[in-house]
Amino acid sequence: MEKVQVKSRDKTYDILIESGLFQRLPEIFKVRYHGKKLAVVCDTHIYPLYGESFVQKLRHGGFDVVPIIFEAGEKHKSLESLTQIYACLAEGLFTRSDILIALGGGVTGDMTGLAAATFLRGMGFIQIPTSLLAMVDSSVGGKVAVDLPQGKNLVGAFYQPDAVYTDPDFLLSLPDNELINGMGELIKAGMIRDAQLFDTLVQLAEGHGADTKGVLNPSLRQRLNEKLEYLIMRCCQIKRDIVEADEFDNDLRQLLNFGHTLGHAIERVQNYQGLSHGEAVAVGMAAFTRMTEAMGLTVKGETDKLIHVLKLYGLPTCVPDLCKEEVLKAIRIDKKNRSGMITIAYIERIGLGRLHSMNLEELEERIDGVLTHICKAS
Ligand SMILES: NC(=O)c1ccc[n+]([C@@H]2O[C@H](COP(=O)([O-])OP(=O)(O)OC[C@H]3O[C@@H](n4cnc5c(N)ncnc54)[C@H](O)[C@@H]3O)[C@@H](O)[C@H]2O)c1
Repeated sequence: MEKVQVKSRDKTYDILIESGLFQRLPEIFKVRYHGKKLAVVCDTHIYPLYGESFVQKLRHGGFDVVPIIFEAGEKHKSLESLTQIYACLAEGLFTRSDILIALGGGVTGDMTGLAAATFLRGMGFIQIPTSLLAMVDSSVGGKVAVDLPQGKNLVGAFYQPDAVYTDPDFLLSLPDNELINGMGELIKAGMIRDAQLFDTLVQLAEGHGADTKGVLNPSLRQRLNEKLEYLIMRCCQIKRDIVEADEFDNDLRQLLNFGHTLGHAIERVQNYQGLSHGEAVAVGMAAFTRMTEAMGLTVKGETDKLIHVLKLYGLPTCVPDLCKEEVLKAIRIDKKNRSGMITIAYIERIGLGRLHSMNLEELEERIDGVLTHICKAS
């Protein structure tokens, strides 16, 4: 079993990573959470796959368990679903020492975390991430939130879980496109902090790469499965190190936004109906690295290496038919645009991420040519 310990201002907790861990959780819970009432939050995809049997096993183990099921999808990471969770907790007479369990992807984790942070001003919270993105990114770092019609993650908090139980076996049922979505974050982690992780990802996929965007070669999936415990652990360590140094997102944590300034802008322009988050970030990483390489901030040749690995994992590096002006407008209204200045995360070389502050006009000027490149057909 791999273990990543996370120290935050309020608590220290472990991320435990092991194939088959989910099957053992009812026994582990009997020892760790004896006497507590449990609520298990799942979306409508995860409940029949894993939630129902989990709830039954916990009940057999003597726990009082309330399942809370919401409609799958980002559009249900909403105040309405949050209210539904509060209502179930209130009707079930949950107390602060009881436990809310997020069993699902990042949507479930973010929303359940916000419910745990706010119900009775804070109750027990456990994450059991089931998507790759949730395992390597959203379950680490304590950011919890729901969306508003006006934008994503607008209502949120910083709230750390009591524990994260990660079982890579969940990924056997994850569709290719969702796995690829998470691969974008793994590649990002290698880019900003770990050249060896980046090389491992290249070696795994070399000769087994995706033929088509959004579809993984079965032999690559097989090779990935064998390495997942290590890959997830390394990615969690990288995010943990950055988050521990800047828990409340004041400076260093912005490194995690590598590729996100442009990625978020693309998602917004496409009204969240186009590229997935991971795909948009992939385009953002490629475009920004091309830009910083031209500025002399990034060692020459790194953009080509990045584009190579993104393609191996079926991730896009350009977006045909995107309106350049709309993307620039979306960057301007991004929340990280502070008083005309914008901080961008970039890589000096693969494995070494840095932050650079520039004014918006300079960014617009520099990014103009890059956008022309990414908005044309691949
Ligand atoms: N808190 C953070 O720091 C942070 C970081 C990154 C992303 N996020 C958030 O995470 C969310 C995206 O996460 P996501 O991509 O996991 O989305 P998601 O939770 O919607 O999961 C994607 C889809 O995969 C399904 N799924 C999940 N696990 C599965 C499995 N094992 N088998 C079959 N299907 C499975 C889900 O039901 C869903 O349909 C966004 O809301 C984003 O804002 C948060």
